[in-house]
Amino acid sequence: MTKWMNESRKDPEPCRKQDLGKFEIIARDGQARLGKIHTNHGIVETPCLLPVINPNIRTIEPREMWDRYGIKALITNSYVIWKHDKLRTKALKDGVHSLIDYPGTIMTDSGTFQSYVYGDVEVGVEEIIKFQKDIGVDIATMLDVFTRPDMTYNQVKEAVDDTISRSQISINVAEDMMINGPIQGGLFPDLRAHSAAEMSNLDFNIHPIGGIVPIMEQQKYKALAKIMLACKPNLSPERPVHMFGCGHPMLFPMLIAMGADLFDSAAYVLFARDGRLLTPWGTEKISEIEEWPVIMPAISNYNPKDILKMNKEERTIILSKYNLEVTLQELSRCRQAVRNGTIWRLAEQRSHQHPALREAFLWLVTNPAVSSMDPIILDDISASKEIGNERGMWEENWDWLVNSQTTPRNGGEAWGGQDTNNRPHIEMARRRLIARWRPKNDGDVIIFHGNSSPWRDKIGNLIHRLSGLNFEIFIQTPIGLIPYSLEDLNPWAHVEGPEWLWKRKPDISSIQRELSKLGIEDSRIFTFDISDTDELHSRVFDKLSIEPSESNKQQTLERQISDKLTLLYNLDPQIADRVCKNAEFVMSTTGRIRNMIDSNGTHLFSPRLAEGGMSLTIDGAKLLHSFRKRKPPVECDAEFGFYPGEGPAWIVVDDDAEPFIRSGRNVMHGFVLACDPWVRPNEDVLVVNSKGELLAFGRSKSTAKEFECFKKGIAVKVREGCSN
Ligand code: GUN
Repeated sequence: MTKWMNESRKDPEPCRKQDLGKFEIIARDGQARLGKIHTNHGIVETPCLLPVINPNIRTIEPREMWDRYGIKALITNSYVIWKHDKLRTKALKDGVHSLIDYPGTIMTDSGTFQSYVYGDVEVGVEEIIKFQKDIGVDIATMLDVFTRPDMTYNQVKEAVDDTISRSQISINVAEDMMINGPIQGGLFPDLRAHSAAEMSNLDFNIHPIGGIVPIMEQQKYKALAKIMLACKPNLSPERPVHMFGCGHPMLFPMLIAMGADLFDSAAYVLFARDGRLLTPWGTEKISEIEEWPVIMPAISNYNPKDILKMNKEERTIILSKYNLEVTLQELSRCRQAVRNGTIWRLAEQRSHQHPALREAFLWLVTNPAVSSMDPIILDDISASKEIGNERGMWEENWDWLVNSQTTPRNGGEAWGGQDTNNRPHIEMARRRLIARWRPKNDGDVIIFHGNSSPWRDKIGNLIHRLSGLNFEIFIQTPIGLIPYSLEDLNPWAHVEGPEWLWKRKPDISSIQRELSKLGIEDSRIFTFDISDTDELHSRVFDKLSIEPSESNKQQTLERQISDKLTLLYNLDPQIADRVCKNAEFVMSTTGRIRNMIDSNGTHLFSPRLAEGGMSLTIDGAKLLHSFRKRKPPVECDAEFGFYPGEGPAWIVVDDDAEPFIRSGRNVMHGFVLACDPWVRPNEDVLVVNSKGELLAFGRSKSTAKEFECFKKGIAVKVREGCSN
């Protein structure tokens, strides 16, 4: 991202002709993404805010936005320009970039918002698109029909249908100009979903979510979250999503976590005119403060009282800059959180800033979700549950969000109260465990509890002695049970929180429910407190009423890798056991497995010490490839499922790409012909040709639907190619 506070900045280069209108993803955290939109006036990096410029009143000069703040795109209103003779004449003669003196990407709106505020507008559907084209805008907006929250179902339906029926003609007139296709639907989730699905079928470049200004003004943030969750899974993923009229920084993290890419707002100047300051936690009045909530360049030489003494015009300019700076700052924080994989945590933190936002957040993480967490751990959020209605669609849409989460991740899982259990990536980790992991013993169950990781240091030797016996062994963690074989796997292995979190006494009925999800019913359960490991071995063998057994470290290690192969590479548990039988394990100085070499002497896998994942070698990839029974996929099937036992997902690429991929180059979007339905971002995949021959292995960057839709950017980051 661009630095602030330059004196001047070079004008942008137009994008390559073949890239015009394309959107690519550079980094992601679930559905949150950092992207690039390619336009004739440069590349816009998202998520970003497009400040609203009123061509009649320019509180902050657009040129200053470009030079000083590095703002790459802004939005103005083509209807306002069209209506005012002086503006229209100049715009038609010199172009909109010259009219407002701005070299970057200009998006224009169409007059729909004016029709909502003032009643009808005089301009026609085709006329306003033609006008936007004539004045040289980069991204135009069609004249959609605004849906207000007080409208009846039938009124909203008519508006949605009218918008859809105006679309194709608008696209035809736009020709090669980029164009926005707004999503309407008021407060009705099915109409939002319908609008999103229909508009996605048309050749738009960007989809703004429309009709949300009155909802945000009334602080109905739960309704906003519902609108987003109703729309977003139905929109084509390769098109950026723009939140029309949304500029309050407080809302950014939650919306970005759900996949918002662009925001626009006049809030920075409208609030400044009323002497109000935007902050990431709400709004403050300058007349009521003595200290700045955040220190920003615009006010660094003043205190609030100095600003109050200024005349209104001067004050508005300084406070507009301050508000803009705070807004840009919060967007920077959000982008960094996407890179770090912590956007959901940021949304969680921000949700506490406003009761309505908290309500929205809790609705989101508890109502649509069918949590795999046992209810006993979720009890204090059950109050937020809505009874009955609308569950089917919300569940599916929530799954869309959960299925795109990366797990395991590096770093600790900072505990944040009950919310921790609802983080979508933790939910995904648990779902994957339930879907893929299988018990291998039918005897009793042992649960260790009372202490945090690393468990191998505390009970590793005991586990070696229990390994050859007929027990399934688990550890109780604050986010659920984990088989001992996966003891170093995140997120379970790395929950950072107070000690008492680990001291929770095991609740047998809750444990039984969890075990039943993991395929263990009717077993006897033995629990052992390991907060104190004194005499642990004899305590355990006494309670189990068995003779102390010999250490069987080899078996512990085989089980560890075998269970990881099942969970992370989707290998059939029996095949995974065969692969690991009599393997040699190269250990690190801290006693962890570094490499696994099979009984034929081939190095196949290297566990990753940071998060408990695994890395393949090319021989490992070849072996996993050889186990495949099903035919290569023939399409990018968007319906996600875990497909246990089917191996790592396959990505089929175009023949033209084969030599490049064999030589180790990344798979680019546009060259993917098909993929397995269980593919997920940031999981290891095998890249094959249409005959199913292995070309490479690497890390998927996309969901199945994204493989189908994207035309630009990296689809699979290749680790190693496979020569013929
Ligand atoms: N600005 C704020 N809301 C809207 C909307 O719903 N449609 C359009 N075109 N512009 C808007």
